[in-house]
Amino acid sequence: MTPSSTSFSLHEGSSFLRNIWYYGLPAADLKPGRCQAKVLLGEPILFCRTTSGKPFALRNLCPHRGIPLHYGRFDGEEVECPYHGWRFNAHGHCTLIPSLTSDSDVDLKNFGVLSYPVREVQGNLWIFFPANERNVSEPTLEVPLVPGFSAETQPQAVQKFIFPGHLDQVFINFMDPSHAPFVHGAWWWRKRGKLFEKAKTFDPSPYGFTMRRHPLLRKSWAHHILGGHPEVEIIYRLPGIRIETNYSDRHTFCFLITLTPINDQETELTATYYWTFPWLAPLKPLLAPLAREFLNQDLRIVAKQSEGLKYKPPLTLIKEADYQAKWYYQLKREYEKATQEEREFVNPLKTQVLRWR
Ligand code: FES
Ligand SMILES: [Fe+2]
Repeated sequence: MTPSSTSFSLHEGSSFLRNIWYYGLPAADLKPGRCQAKVLLGEPILFCRTTSGKPFALRNLCPHRGIPLHYGRFDGEEVECPYHGWRFNAHGHCTLIPSLTSDSDVDLKNFGVLSYPVREVQGNLWIFFPANERNVSEPTLEVPLVPGFSAETQPQAVQKFIFPGHLDQVFINFMDPSHAPFVHGAWWWRKRGKLFEKAKTFDPSPYGFTMRRHPLLRKSWAHHILGGHPEVEIIYRLPGIRIETNYSDRHTFCFLITLTPINDQETELTATYYWTFPWLAPLKPLLAPLAREFLNQDLRIVAKQSEGLKYKPPLTLIKEADYQAKWYYQLKREYEKATQEEREFVNPLKTQVLRWR
């Protein structure tokens, strides 16, 4: 018999997955000829875009004396360190050490800086964190795509948040169905504390699981906005990706949430919206604050939870509302093992129906 609850801790196994794509930043935030410095997974990163439009990302530390490269200059092709003028190209190769004399036999190949693989799709810049920094090859793993939209699609709206919590903690919040009536109790969402029994089918999907597409039974925001007979599907994918697609009779509304750790205590959340409704754009000024408030409700509850987690309490996963959190840990462990053993990831999950209220 399966026990009705299991204990766990949000501190065990709280490392971040490597060898996987994380969301970097909205592609539109990186203009040609410009750079943007960020810290992700505790690593300083410099995102740049060449004058011709090609994005790249370097470890934001000069290998000479460790100064962050964003203090230097970018000429649209190469980054120049402000301290002694070493130059680095998009591959992280050192192209110039000005202090070397013309007859010097120093090999510039030995002074490169880590270059992270990046990809730009659907208006998002993804960055790959290699497992082995000494041997970074072009990843074979595909970047996550929002279904039903082409690779060239640009998002209609983007919202950014910094959640004061560990990636595991924040991602679990977004796969936790039973907080909704308590945390999202505003009039435009649903009546506070009103509980309905639900049964949802989940299938294993690439690097995660998917709540199978099903009709929305009750009146929700999607009914009001989409009209007709809306259906919903939610994809969860490592390392912290949630893609909710709402289908109406003729149109699609997609809500991509990506989580990228800044460090152990902070996680960047980017909400990216795609839709095909021609009439939705004029409603943006009205809907954007509602969506932002909805996510801020999650942010505030996570902030309060973080106060308690400082004391490292043992926690509980209860059946069946918390099974998705359990699956997340299973997936994460398997991904870590597969990376260590340098083998293919094998999804450990099976199709299952979950019930909760
Ligand atoms: S510290 Fe960068 S060139 Fe010396
Ligand atoms: Fe929530």
